[in-house]
Amino acid sequence: MNILIYETYEKMSQAAAAIIAAQVLAKPDSILGLATGSTPFGTYTGLVKLYKEGILDFKRVKTFNLDEYVGIDKSDDQSYHFFMMENLFSKININARNINIPNGLANDLEKECAAYEKKIDAAGGIDLQLLGIGNNGHIGFNEPDVHFPAATHIVELSESTIEANARFFPDSGKVPRSAITMGTGAIMKSRRILLLASGGQKADVVKELVYGEVRPQLPASILRFHNDVTIIIDSEAGAGLHGKVI
Ligand code: GLP
Repeated sequence: MNILIYETYEKMSQAAAAIIAAQVLAKPDSILGLATGSTPFGTYTGLVKLYKEGILDFKRVKTFNLDEYVGIDKSDDQSYHFFMMENLFSKININARNINIPNGLANDLEKECAAYEKKIDAAGGIDLQLLGIGNNGHIGFNEPDVHFPAATHIVELSESTIEANARFFPDSGKVPRSAITMGTGAIMKSRRILLLASGGQKADVVKELVYGEVRPQLPASILRFHNDVTIIIDSEAGAGLHGKVI
């Protein structure tokens, strides 16, 4: 694992945007796996800036988002569709046909999961997967479990995730109880992985991810078996690590 610890959220976001930018410059038809949550916000701002400055071109880029809530409409401002449109897609020249986000309103959710997984494979697999990490170690919405769920699936969100995500909703009763998520299998098949974490509330989980045992109770720990993972964190999230702050 390549671990980069930056003093501030701004710097870590710039570094993450630089890695994604380099991927797109080297392979203009890159397949990017994208994440939501508050952490990648600065990274997306950085990518938009590079696009506006004429340095990046997203015309041939394809994207697959990790997850989406079940039961909320694309136009709902809490949906991950809305987040992605608002913070990235509406601000760059990506082709709408190249954007993929699971449909949490599909009539047949199981079918939607299988089709999503197939579509990633048919596109040639993900070149670079961006990830955040939940306080409980989840990636995408792969929650702590007794096994690593490999395939794209429907997940019942844990109480701690509902609580953590309640900050985006008017009240915790409004947080959807389930979601569609790419499984750890699709994530692990990505050729490169970039995981971001920011803030002191992530310090323990980041420490466990780096030094703890690989176990399904900490889904992110499976990344230790991947051969091209970069972790970019700020100094607060890296408080439990021995590495030097850049
Ligand atoms: C949600 C998303 C995850 C994300 C996590 C952390 O649960 N499904 O993909 O990593 O939140 O969010 P944040 O970056 O806001 O801490």
